[in-house]
Amino acid sequence: MEESYFADLNTKTIGKKVQCHKKVTSTNDLGWLEVSRGAEEGTVILADEQLKGRGRFGRDWFSPSQKGIWLSVVLYPSRFPEETFLLMSIGALAVADLLKNKFGLPASIRWPNDVIINNKKIAGIIVESKYINKSPNATVMGIGLNIDIPDSEIPPDLKDITTSLTKETNKATSIGIKEIAADLICLLDKWHDKIINRELETIQDAWRNFSCVMNKSVSVKIKDKILEGKIIDLDPCKGFALLESNGNTNWLRGETVEMLRLI
Ligand code: BTN
Repeated sequence: MEESYFADLNTKTIGKKVQCHKKVTSTNDLGWLEVSRGAEEGTVILADEQLKGRGRFGRDWFSPSQKGIWLSVVLYPSRFPEETFLLMSIGALAVADLLKNKFGLPASIRWPNDVIINNKKIAGIIVESKYINKSPNATVMGIGLNIDIPDSEIPPDLKDITTSLTKETNKATSIGIKEIAADLICLLDKWHDKIINRELETIQDAWRNFSCVMNKSVSVKIKDKILEGKIIDLDPCKGFALLESNGNTNWLRGETVEMLRLI
């Protein structure tokens, strides 16, 4: 991918600067390097391939060359207290918006931020945050979206649980990765702008509408405990409300829940 392709995205914050790399350890590593250099808010880092792509809770993220969008964004969510939580929701919202509205796919969000099509994961989002001298709060949001990973290349443990865009639609190959990356950056900026303008209800509604866990019975892993119950409410800042069979309701957030399964 060439940086010049992304020169005129005409976005407000995300994508005003876009870096393109061939092979990196992780675009999130480069994101943090850029933070240490005082990068502008909204700087995007894209790579063709990651050698050590990382997922949530120390998992690896399979990122073969030119088979997906491997992208990170540098953000400084220091305008109001809920901003970091809201940021955690817009990555998945932007991907689901892209898949539904550009490709007509039945995309949904499996809380907190896996994007799912037909029960299989097509994208994942990781949000890493650090306080630098208390403020500004620096965040690197990493998004991995599988575009065209042939079955023969998928590691055996991921085969039954992941999918990619070419599998779900035959349009993706003719459109190309850089065009999809540009659309995704624009949608990230659109949803980010709703945070800046504090259109919290719009974010909340979209978050609930895309959710595939609302009103569903789930099993969740928190440290060494497994809890079972029904999700009765969702909120981008508070997490989800789990009604357990003993009648207790607890709000649980993404940073504590290691695993969530529909039962
Ligand atoms: C998850 O589902 O656990 C999150 C996966 C996030 C993967 C992306 S790919 C681009 C960015 N760089 C990384 O090392 N990880 C994220």
